[in-house]
Amino acid sequence: MVPADADAYADLIDDTIIRINGFPEHYVYDVRLAVERGQLVGERVLVTLGDGRLVGTIQTYTRNQMIHDSCELGFSVGSEYRGRGYASEAVDGFVSHLHACGYRVVEASTAVDNDVVRRLLTRAGFVVVDEYRRTLLNGVEIDAVRFRHVQPDQVGE
Ligand SMILES: CC(C)(COP(=O)(O)OP(=O)(O)OC[C@H]1O[C@@H](n2cnc3c(N)ncnc32)[C@H](O)[C@@H]1OP(=O)(O)O)[C@@H](O)C(=O)NCCC(=O)NCCS
Repeated sequence: MVPADADAYADLIDDTIIRINGFPEHYVYDVRLAVERGQLVGERVLVTLGDGRLVGTIQTYTRNQMIHDSCELGFSVGSEYRGRGYASEAVDGFVSHLHACGYRVVEASTAVDNDVVRRLLTRAGFVVVDEYRRTLLNGVEIDAVRFRHVQPDQVGE
């Protein structure tokens, strides 16, 4: 993602994405500014159609700075593009890329009742490792489930 993507990226963040992720007031303003200034942390990839329309994003960051072979995955798809397989395709491709980059473990979390994401991650080969209370950025606490995808040749090690 580059500074010129700031508006398209901010426009993608609709009320559903804000609610599910618990983004606080001013989040969209802040994130737009961060993209403009090249200050967003982690690796963030835009999913676009051939004509350049922005479909969604998939991103990763290191959850625990002490564990260098593990990272956390997040993704969102714009409302008009949901249910067409874009997130599934992006997750498959990005997880393979992260393993190839040296991340042995890729983790992803969602609300326990987010059935779309649970099915999507399970289809992509993730397994449940943990259920926990998660505090979202706006302070709301939810029951969350953590999934893990281990590099295929290292499963069971
Ligand atoms: C969750 C989210 C990222 C999923 O993105 P998506 O691109 O719609 O996901 P997919 O299309 O790959 O898969 C979703 C469903 O569409 C179905 N689907 C896939 N390709 C399809 C197609 N060509 N036609 C119709 N349905 C299709 C999938 O089978 C899946 O159905 P299921 O849930 O009944 O198994 C997106 O809905 C979103 O951003 N939601 C709002 C915020 C959110 O929940 N974020 C996650 C926080 S952890």
